[in-house]
Amino acid sequence: MDSPTFRRLHRSLSRQVALVIFAACAATFTSAQKAPNAQDLLKQMTLEEKVAQLSQLPGFPLPDFESSLGMPQDVVRKYGAGSVLWLPDAKEINRWQHIAVDESRMHIPILFGLDVIHGYHTIFPAPLALASSWDPAMVEGVQTIAAREARAAGIQWTFAPMVDIARDARWGRMIEGAGEDPYLGAAMARAQVRGFQGDKPGAPDRVITSVKHFAGYGAADGGRDYDSSYIPEELMWNVYLPPFKAALDAGAGTVMSAYMDLNDVPATGNRWLLHDVLRESWNFKGFVVSDAFAVHSLITHGYARDGQDAAYKAFTAGVNMDMASGTYLKYLVEAVRDKRVSMQQIDAAVLPILEAKIQLGLFEHPFVDESKIEQVMNTPEHAQKARVAVQRSVVLLRNEKGLLPLDKSGAQLKSIAVIGPLADAENDLLSMWGSITKPGPTVSILRGITEKAGSAIHVEFSHGPSLRRVFPSPFDNLPMSSMRQQPEQTREQFRKSIDDAVSLAGRSDVAVVVLGEIDLMSAESASRASLGLSNGQQELLEAVAATGKPVVLVLVNGRPLDISWASEHVPAIVEAWYPGSQGGNGIADVLFGDANPGGHLPVSWPRNSGQLPLYYNHNRTQNPEDRADFTSRYWDIASTPLYPFGYGLSYTTFSFDNVKLSQASARVGERIEVSVDVTNTGSRAGDAVAQLYIHQRAGSASRPVRQLKGFQRVNLAAGAKQTLHFALGPEELQFWSPTARKWVVEPEQFDIWVGGDSTAKLHGEFRLTE
Ligand code: BGC
Repeated sequence: MDSPTFRRLHRSLSRQVALVIFAACAATFTSAQKAPNAQDLLKQMTLEEKVAQLSQLPGFPLPDFESSLGMPQDVVRKYGAGSVLWLPDAKEINRWQHIAVDESRMHIPILFGLDVIHGYHTIFPAPLALASSWDPAMVEGVQTIAAREARAAGIQWTFAPMVDIARDARWGRMIEGAGEDPYLGAAMARAQVRGFQGDKPGAPDRVITSVKHFAGYGAADGGRDYDSSYIPEELMWNVYLPPFKAALDAGAGTVMSAYMDLNDVPATGNRWLLHDVLRESWNFKGFVVSDAFAVHSLITHGYARDGQDAAYKAFTAGVNMDMASGTYLKYLVEAVRDKRVSMQQIDAAVLPILEAKIQLGLFEHPFVDESKIEQVMNTPEHAQKARVAVQRSVVLLRNEKGLLPLDKSGAQLKSIAVIGPLADAENDLLSMWGSITKPGPTVSILRGITEKAGSAIHVEFSHGPSLRRVFPSPFDNLPMSSMRQQPEQTREQFRKSIDDAVSLAGRSDVAVVVLGEIDLMSAESASRASLGLSNGQQELLEAVAATGKPVVLVLVNGRPLDISWASEHVPAIVEAWYPGSQGGNGIADVLFGDANPGGHLPVSWPRNSGQLPLYYNHNRTQNPEDRADFTSRYWDIASTPLYPFGYGLSYTTFSFDNVKLSQASARVGERIEVSVDVTNTGSRAGDAVAQLYIHQRAGSASRPVRQLKGFQRVNLAAGAKQTLHFALGPEELQFWSPTARKWVVEPEQFDIWVGGDSTAKLHGEFRLTE
């Protein structure tokens, strides 16, 4: 058949086939391009497209989002976008990505960011708990899993690690970091960056990190979140900045600027921080993202006149990307047209963002394979790692007459009363950030105990009082998070809840009382003035203890609480922090001795909030506490912590002896080796955490009474002894001197102590010479 009709048909069909083939090729090209060169891209981009790359857009509608380039999805369609955040769902991520890659002129993929702080689906213990493990290798391992799960769901960028030093337990965000110490904080920062990013940044199962909040956020006045921080330069260099430096040295790809005023200049407009320290001193080549809305907030601070001024000040201070406020979108184009900002400055800011996308392989693989998500998330391996992380993070604070571990055979112990408003909690074990990703199932402490007790021991539960904040949290009832207040109780319901708990304790052999804070109480915007066991929990505890039954107090909380009474009257106290998805199992393992606790405190534990800020590495002062009179003591309570930094018990005991130094004197710049013997003096295997502290006796500035400069967690069989080695070189012995105004290692006399906490007694000394 070769009719004109056929030829027409044939021509038309071939055209259609060609069109289909062409469309398929185009789609392939737009959905899986080859990695371009960042400079080449820049040359082709309009100013608006560049400004869109400098913007991180909210993944859900925000009423006061500012932008003169349109609403978020229109911006993506017309100009693309640097990043989108708060989208934990892969389907939505793919939908947004298709708009960017298929519809925008430059087809540049979006970088999706989220707070994957300690897990995405499998939620690990919160960062303060992870730091309590003193086990960087374990911490690296869990963040590797967090990265794997997050990346499988389309998240390529985590807003972690949070490395803010926190010396004040009133501050609600202490839980998100590694505590008060720059050395431990630096070790945890490094481990987390390695875990998230791996050796090869951009590998398909890793995410890029954003070390935050740069810097000094944890020193908020009065422990009030977002309040101003006043931190002298020497404290910045010696205490607040080292964990950031460590994270960047480990390869952290991005930095998030903080919310608060630092010495009267908001961190998000602070050129000293973002340029002098970050770019000049540290040679940082990645990019800086503001904290959420922080560019616009420069107006609220009273630092910027208006949106235009805010965009200008943040941008010229060194913030590459505006998180969620739209201020760059609204004002930066104009700033370039008015010649206040040059195109070279814009290009320099866009470049590292494009490079990050290239490094992450987003041009080749912009989309998530939704069919593979499930198999990455629910693996028994991840759950097991989470359980071990709990076992290793728990800190045993008190254990009189060996009440713990409990006997699970059922031979002596026949019944357990599990009491308290956090005993059956699931979401509250996850902490704030664990509740905004896509958490999988969580094992409550009640369930962990019940399953472990099996049929041998009868377990019964009584809730006790409800936990509620006096002033509600802005995160309460947010659709994206599972954080909720507990239901309100009338006075009668409260009384009955205590009576029920007491009567249950009375008819049980042991009471495990689980108290602390719901996750809304220890998080962002969750500062508190008192540290007591709130909402009648103290009354509950005392009433249960008054039954005369042995009591084990398990704390679920985000900061040290005032447990002075418990520390004298409750025989066993276990600090669990927010332990995550496997919390119940890990804690039951510890309570019944299937795991021997080896966690140690990453913060000094105050007796009450009147002591705050409290930290072990303070200066000696003219009248130190060891003087008979005229000391810096309070006259009403002891000024020492209830439990010192580095403290933690085990079901076994350890001794530290035979400290040796490689030489009694060394020259500045040389290394001194320190060795010590650690012996397990008890009758079961356990982990010791050996800690090395130093003190410089004199110099160009007063130096802290002690500073942690080495630690090792080691497992020892009953009776076993191991010799541990530490090195003290210039890295450990230097400090930033306020008189020399630079880093110095000084030829002075040094003390060292080695032991199981910051009050270690085993002493040595050495001298550094010119
Ligand atoms: C927090 C950051 C967080 C950001 C994005 C802010 O409120 O301060 O820590 O990364 O939100 O969720």
